[in-house]
Amino acid sequence: MSEELLYAGKAKSVYRSDSPGELIVVFRDDITAFDGGRKDVLSRKGEYNARVSAHLFELLEEAGVPTHFLRLEGPARMRVRRLAMVPLEVIVRNRAAGSLVRNYPFESGEPLDPPLIVIDHKDDARHDPMVNDEIILALGLLGRAELDAMKALALRVNGVLLELFGACGLDLVDFKVEFGRDEWGRLRLGDEVSMDSMRLWSRETGESLDKDVYRLGTGDVLGAYARVAERLGLEM
Ligand code: C5P
Repeated sequence: MSEELLYAGKAKSVYRSDSPGELIVVFRDDITAFDGGRKDVLSRKGEYNARVSAHLFELLEEAGVPTHFLRLEGPARMRVRRLAMVPLEVIVRNRAAGSLVRNYPFESGEPLDPPLIVIDHKDDARHDPMVNDEIILALGLLGRAELDAMKALALRVNGVLLELFGACGLDLVDFKVEFGRDEWGRLRLGDEVSMDSMRLWSRETGESLDKDVYRLGTGDVLGAYARVAERLGLEM
């Protein structure tokens, strides 16, 4: 690719595009876990995440959630609006799993109603510590009204995804999203919404169909991702 690489994350690379307000995101086949401590390459994984993300961004836009998505320009190549990213990971949890069960006395799978919002500060050197509203405000990352708007957007994303996956027989346990400001300062959903950033449990069998298959080393990661795409009716 001749475009200038602006940023390479653990599983995506961001390139300058022919338009100043737009970027190209390439979903790579790299998969990592445990703060980058484990790394592998899974052929076609980038395609699955790009395709599912594109589909979910489209549905979310239709449901009134502003996103950075513009269009797919290849199997793993997405054109997006340029955002100034807010360095926060907003995690919405419908059931207890993962770090919530490791760090607090919740039972794995316990329903959380209303859903819990947990926010981490994106800071690799400090291993993305959890923050609260006061820390976010004190760091000047968002103002009070923007913080409330960001949480409301995250809950709206949750509503849309819960209904969608529920209709496909999948339990949306939790997910992580990231937001940024567009050129007018409006908050938009950025990054990706894919099997790398959510937990999905099959309602019939209880098995994970997400990155936990990789984290736990329990089976065929790409097969699990393919099943999610198939349930969403996406032809790959
Ligand atoms: O690990 P934890 O239980 O806190 O993760 C909660 C949710 O957020 C999971 O769906 C996980 O895949 C996602 N997550 C993520 N990126 C991170 C941390 C968590 O996508 N850096």
